[in-house]
Amino acid sequence: MSKILITSALPYVNGVPHLGHMVGCLLPSDVYARYMRMMGHEVLYICGTDEHGTPSEVGAAKEGMDVADYCLKYHNRHKEAYKAFNLSFDYFGRTSSDQNKEMTYHIFEQLDKNGFIEEHSIKQIFSIDDNRFLPDRYVTGTCPHCGYEKARGDQCENCTKVLEPTELINPRSTISGSTNLEVRETKHLFLNLPLLEEKLAAWVKSKEPFWPDVAYSIAQKWLKEGLKPRCITRDLKWGFPVNKKGFEDKVFYVWFDAPIGYIGITKQWSDENPQTRNWKDWWLDAKDVRYVQFMGKDNVPFHSISFPATLLGTGENWTKVDYLKGMSYLTFEGGKFSKSENRGVFAEDAIKEFPADYWRYWLMANAPEASDSSFTFDLFAGTVNKDLNGVLGNFVSRVMKMTASKIGSVVPQAGEWLEVDKQLIADLQEKVENYCKYMENLEFKKALAELRAIWVDGNNYISVTEPWTVIKTDPQRAAAILNLCLNLIRIYAVLSYPIMPETAEKMLAKFGLDKTEINSLKDFKAEKEIKALKEGQAFEVGEALFERIAPEKVEELKAKYGSEKK
Ligand code: MF3
Ligand code: ZN
Repeated sequence: MSKILITSALPYVNGVPHLGHMVGCLLPSDVYARYMRMMGHEVLYICGTDEHGTPSEVGAAKEGMDVADYCLKYHNRHKEAYKAFNLSFDYFGRTSSDQNKEMTYHIFEQLDKNGFIEEHSIKQIFSIDDNRFLPDRYVTGTCPHCGYEKARGDQCENCTKVLEPTELINPRSTISGSTNLEVRETKHLFLNLPLLEEKLAAWVKSKEPFWPDVAYSIAQKWLKEGLKPRCITRDLKWGFPVNKKGFEDKVFYVWFDAPIGYIGITKQWSDENPQTRNWKDWWLDAKDVRYVQFMGKDNVPFHSISFPATLLGTGENWTKVDYLKGMSYLTFEGGKFSKSENRGVFAEDAIKEFPADYWRYWLMANAPEASDSSFTFDLFAGTVNKDLNGVLGNFVSRVMKMTASKIGSVVPQAGEWLEVDKQLIADLQEKVENYCKYMENLEFKKALAELRAIWVDGNNYISVTEPWTVIKTDPQRAAAILNLCLNLIRIYAVLSYPIMPETAEKMLAKFGLDKTEINSLKDFKAEKEIKALKEGQAFEVGEALFERIAPEKVEELKAKYGSEKK
């Protein structure tokens, strides 16, 4: 048994998560955490909302709310949505917590003491009417290159040229629309990444054998281009006030305190549950901890360069990432998810349409791992109808109904294994080993394909052995076949648990079993597992596991969630 620390990138608190966010880091991290617990490891799985920065201030202003109240409101919405999706965090905290503040201050002090913090003056746009500095992307104006009138201060969306806000023609505040702007010079604090470069490069190099190629090459590219000092303070009100003389009226940049949030949130959890586990055992001078991070691809530079550099600069022995899973993107009916244009399915709506497991299965079976993947309702309904209803659901109801009607609602007697049975068991052993290997390697699409193949084998077995015919001439053999099939249902429940926890529990409940049954994935031996349900064990056919999605429903969903619109 080892200790496995798992974090999912902390979602921005403003706005509500959609399916893209779900599959971008939250769901894969949950599947992995559940799987690792089933393998008998000690898992700590941490997430929370990323709450600082201008978007929270702007969001709060739009709703006429105090920023702290606004953050709490949306933190709770995130939390509810993730609960509905059965994400099994040990703790879901907040980057705005006192514990994270304490952690951020400590890490900053160490960096400063070790000489990695420096001061620079920078020119920034100040909005007189808004009475605040405007971050680059809160200045809008006409692009000097292409004439696009709604170019943002950091980049023109139309011609993609990178801009300085001071280059914009007719600049105005995105917040209020005011054109009453001026350029002011202010002092800021920078993390001296060039000074840390050597240490960082050596650390990254040490990770080469373990990181997936994508993550490693992104980190290498940044190192090759040479690191620049990075500004870690902002002229905002919402955030942690900088704990250094002369900078008290500024706050830390959101990307400085957000990843420290992984640690701060763990401490928040530890403080609230002092009887359980101590945050330090996982983060500071921690032994035998394997740390696995999940995030969207755009987050990789922060997790492979700036955050590790921050931790290295403290001179203290913080746990740093051992494996970094960067996910690509999910598109929605060929376009982007957009709350403002009402395009896309948001987590809280998704759950009103179908049970969490339908989404969990589809999203993981189509996880954007090596490349982007595309969500469409046609694909979604196709998968639910074929894989879930047609393959798994059908097997379970067919076996149970047949046994109940021909023999009775108890597991019938086992028999000698014939060649076809031995083959089934050998295939099961091999496929479960593959499934486990893919899960260990965080290759989720492959793991799910293997799981589906295991269900297909069950269907094929019953088609070939024809217990409904055999029973007429050899009731003992028919009983033996159905005994194996019923045992397969229990095994399928166990294997499906990381991906579809509710369905797995429903399957077990049909036998009067609960999830204590699911520790059996470790050292899986098909020959033993296939005998776990004993003769005479009662079962209940009960409800179907899944419902087909009708074509009319698909059309209704397309209209409702905006897939027709461009
Ligand atoms: N909020 C960021 C995003 O959604 C992710 C922050 S990850 C953390 O892109 F490490 F900074 F917390
Ligand atoms: Zn342009």
